[in-house]
Parts: sequence; structure tokens; C-alpha cells
Amino acid sequence: MRNRIIVLGFILFSGAFIMEACQSEQELNYARYYMNGKQVYEQHCQNCHGTDGRGLAKLYPALTDTLYLKNNKSQLACFIKNGLNDTITVNNIEFSGQMPAESHLPDIDIAAVITYITNSFGNKQGLYDVAKAGADIKACQDLNDDKQ
Ligand code: HEC
Repeated sequence: MRNRIIVLGFILFSGAFIMEACQSEQELNYARYYMNGKQVYEQHCQNCHGTDGRGLAKLYPALTDTLYLKNNKSQLACFIKNGLNDTITVNNIEFSGQMPAESHLPDIDIAAVITYITNSFGNKQGLYDVAKAGADIKACQDLNDDKQ
């Protein structure tokens, strides 16, 4: 009987340990994306969107509009990969500028920078991983193919 309790205790203990390890594995993964994304942002985005994501007047939209980023989440990878030349309303201001394409950026960097912007400047949306970036980019390419 006593042995059984010890074995049961051991099983419960290792279960908790494994869950804890998975949890920190996820946190590590998120931290890795976020840190890499910050670097990508500083190199490729900050010039226009600003260090604090506030953009620039009517020229460059802010990334502080949490609703805009949430509603257009599945489009963000395509905005970055293919550029954006549209009329959009962000923080109640209308923009019809042009964002250059970053077509050379690999999916992993796009995923990282999206994780960064959607968890900075007042946004809190969690991890956006490379598989999601790949799927979102493929979906908008298929859409563009249909239009042609
Ligand atoms: C040369 C300036 C420039 C650079 C560099 C740039 N953007 Fe933009 N971005 C713009 C402009 C201008 C728009 C609005 C385009 C329009 O009106 O169609 C925009 C729109 C956006 C939007 C949608 C609107 C918003 O504010 O939420 C997001 C998201 C975004 N950019 C993220 C990025 C990210 C991430 C990078 C770096 C990988 C980047 N941009 C690099 C100028 C830039």
C-alpha cells in the first residue's frame, strides 16, 4: 500500500514537472520570436512606424490601433511580404500611402515581427508562429492568383 502511494506520488510529481517544462518551452518560444521580431522591426519598420509604434502624422499609420491589428491579423503577413497600397483607416485617420514590399524577408522573420508588433504598443495577442505566417501568405497568394 505504502509503495503504491509512493509510486502514485511519483507519477503525479513527474506529470506536474512535464507540464511545467512544456509551459516554459512555450514561453521560451514566445520570447525567442518576440526578441527576433524586435530586431526585424528596428531594421525594417521603425524608420516609418517609429520606435514607439506611433507612426508619423498622416504619412505613416500607427501600430497602436489594437482593433485594426486584431481585425486584420491574417492579412499582416501579406502586407509585409507584398507591401500595401490601399486606403485604410487607422486610429480614425485615413491613409493612402504606400508601404514597400519586403519580399526577401523569410517567413520566420515575418512571423517574428508580427509577434513583436501584436504584443507591443498596447497590443497583447500572443505568439504568431512561422506556420501561421506561411499559411496566411499562401492564402493571399491564392487570392491574388484568382484575381488575375
Ligand atoms: C517606407 C515606410 C514604411 C516601412 C519601412 C514599413 N511601413 Fe508599414 N506602412 C507604411 C504605410 C505608408 C502604410 C499604409 C499603406 C496604405 O495606406 O495603403 C503602412 C501600413 C502598415 C500596417 C497596417 C496599418 C497599421 O498601422 O496597422 C502594418 C501592420 C504595417 N504597416 C506594419 C509594418 C511592418 C511590420 C513593417 C516592417 C517589416 C513596415 N510596416 C514597414 C509605411 C511603411
